Amino acid sequence: MRPLAEHFDVVVIGGGPGGYAAALYGAGAGLKVAVVEKDKVGGTCLHRGCIPAKEFLETAHVYRTVAGAKEFGVNSDQPVVDFSVSQARKQRVVDTQWKGLQSTMKRRKITTINGYAQLAPNKIVKVSDGSDLTADNIILAAGSTPRTIPGFEVDGKFVMTSDEVLALDELPSSVAVIGGGAIGCEFASMMSDLGVKVTLLEALPKILAGCDADVADVVVKSFKKRGMDVHVGVSGLSHKPGKSTTTVTWDGGSVEVEAIIVSVGRKPATDGLFLGDTGVAVNDRGYIEVDEWMQTSAEGIWAIGDCVPTAQLAHVGYAEAMLAIKGILGEDATPIDYNAVPWCIYTHPEVAFAGYSEQAAKDAGYKVVVKKGPFSHVGRADIIGETTGIVKVIAEDQGDGTGGRILGVHMVGPWVTEQLGQAYLSVNWQATVDEVAQFIQPHPSLSELFGETVLALTGRGLLLQ
Ligand code: NAI
Repeated sequence: MRPLAEHFDVVVIGGGPGGYAAALYGAGAGLKVAVVEKDKVGGTCLHRGCIPAKEFLETAHVYRTVAGAKEFGVNSDQPVVDFSVSQARKQRVVDTQWKGLQSTMKRRKITTINGYAQLAPNKIVKVSDGSDLTADNIILAAGSTPRTIPGFEVDGKFVMTSDEVLALDELPSSVAVIGGGAIGCEFASMMSDLGVKVTLLEALPKILAGCDADVADVVVKSFKKRGMDVHVGVSGLSHKPGKSTTTVTWDGGSVEVEAIIVSVGRKPATDGLFLGDTGVAVNDRGYIEVDEWMQTSAEGIWAIGDCVPTAQLAHVGYAEAMLAIKGILGEDATPIDYNAVPWCIYTHPEVAFAGYSEQAAKDAGYKVVVKKGPFSHVGRADIIGETTGIVKVIAEDQGDGTGGRILGVHMVGPWVTEQLGQAYLSVNWQATVDEVAQFIQPHPSLSELFGETVLALTGRGLLLQ
C-alpha cells in the first residue's frame, strides 16, 4: 500500500515524453521523483501519436517497396494490405516500447502512480486514489488532446481524430482529411499510398504552413501525382451523413467519403488540472504560461510539453524537461531557441528542417542567399529509386552572393528525417557555409546533397553551381 501522504523532491503530473523525460533526468541526478499518470506512461506520443503513426507510415513504405519491386528485377505479386495485421504489429511495437519505458523508470527508482492528479495550493498534488503528494518542485506535463471543429465532432461513425485513426483495423476506401498540418499530411500520405482515395482540405493558402514554400510545393506535387485531391483556402465546411458515406461540402466543392479525419491542431489538456488558487497563470487558450526556463508564475511549479504554448513536439518536450530539471537543481542552462528546433514530418516524401525558411529569414530582416540541391543529382537517390526532393540551404548573404552564417536548412525527399542531424547542428552552432563546406560527406550517400548544397553556397560547388 502506498502511503496517503508522501513527500518528493519532484512530482511530475503526466507521464508523456515531457513528463517521463523530466522524471528520468531528475532521477538520474539523484532526485526523489514521482510521476502521476492517469493512463499509460509514454503518453500521446507512444500510444496515440508519433510512434503508432510512424509505424503505419512504415507499412505504406513497405507497400511501395513491394509494389515497385519489379523495377529492381524482383518479381512478386502485387501487394494487398491486411490492415488488421498492420494494426497488430503497431500494437506490438507500442507495447514493447511501453514495457521498456516502464522498466527503465523502475530501474531509476521513479515512483509511478496510476491516477488522475490535480494541483492544489501549497504545492500539494491530489491524486484520484485519495493520496496527497507534496514536493519541493512540481512539473506540469499534462499534454494535449485533439481539437475538433463545430459540426465535425467525433461520432463513432464517420468523423475521427488521430486517436480513432490509429485504432483502425480496416482502412476506409475514401477519406476527407480536414487540416493540412503535420498530422493531416502524414495520414493523407499513408492512406493514399495504401490505396485510399484521399481529399485533403486546408483552410490556409498552403498545406504544411510552417515549412519552407518550396518544400511544401514538392509535397503537394507528389500528393497530386499519386491521385490525391488537395484543396487549399477551404472555408464553409459542413458534412451531411448518409447511410454508409457522408458528403463533405465546402465553399465551391464537395466530396462523398466513407470517413473524415479532423486534424486541425491539438489543445492543451489543462481543464480540471487545478484545484483552487494555485497561482499558476493559464492563458486564454488554456496553455500554461512559462518563462524561458519553463517556470510558471508560481514558485516551484514548472510546466513543459504540449500544455505550454511552444512547438508541440515530443523532442521539444524532452528539451523542456531537462531545462526544468536543471533549473530545479540550480544548474547552468541555456533556454531553447524555438526558431531552430528540428522538425520532421514523415510523409512520403519526408520533410525535415531546422531554422529559418527563406521567407521567415527575409521577414526577420536578413539578406539571404539560397541554394537548392535536387535529389535527382544524387547517385544513392537514383539507386533507391527516390529522386523526388530537394535540400534547400538558407544563409546570410556576405555581400558577394556567397553564403555566411547558415540560417536554415529545409529538406524534402528520401529519409531526410534521418539526415537532418548535421543540418540541425550547423544551424544551432551558428556555423558558416565555409566551415561546413570543409566537412567530407560519405559517397555515395543521400546526405552528400546537404554537403554539396552548402559547398555551392561558397560559389564553388562541384556538381551544383
Ligand atoms: P497543425 O496546427 O500543425 O495543423 C492544423 C492545420 O489545420 C493547419 O494548417 C490549419 O490551417 C488547418 N485548419 C484549422 N482549421 C481548419 C478548418 N476549419 N478547415 C481546414 N483546415 C483547418 O495541427 P496538427 O497537424 O493537427 O498537429 C497537431 C500538433 O502536433 C502540431 O503542433 C504538430 O506540429 C504536432 N505534430 C507533429 C508531427 C511531426 O512533426 N511529424 C506529427 C504529428 C503532430
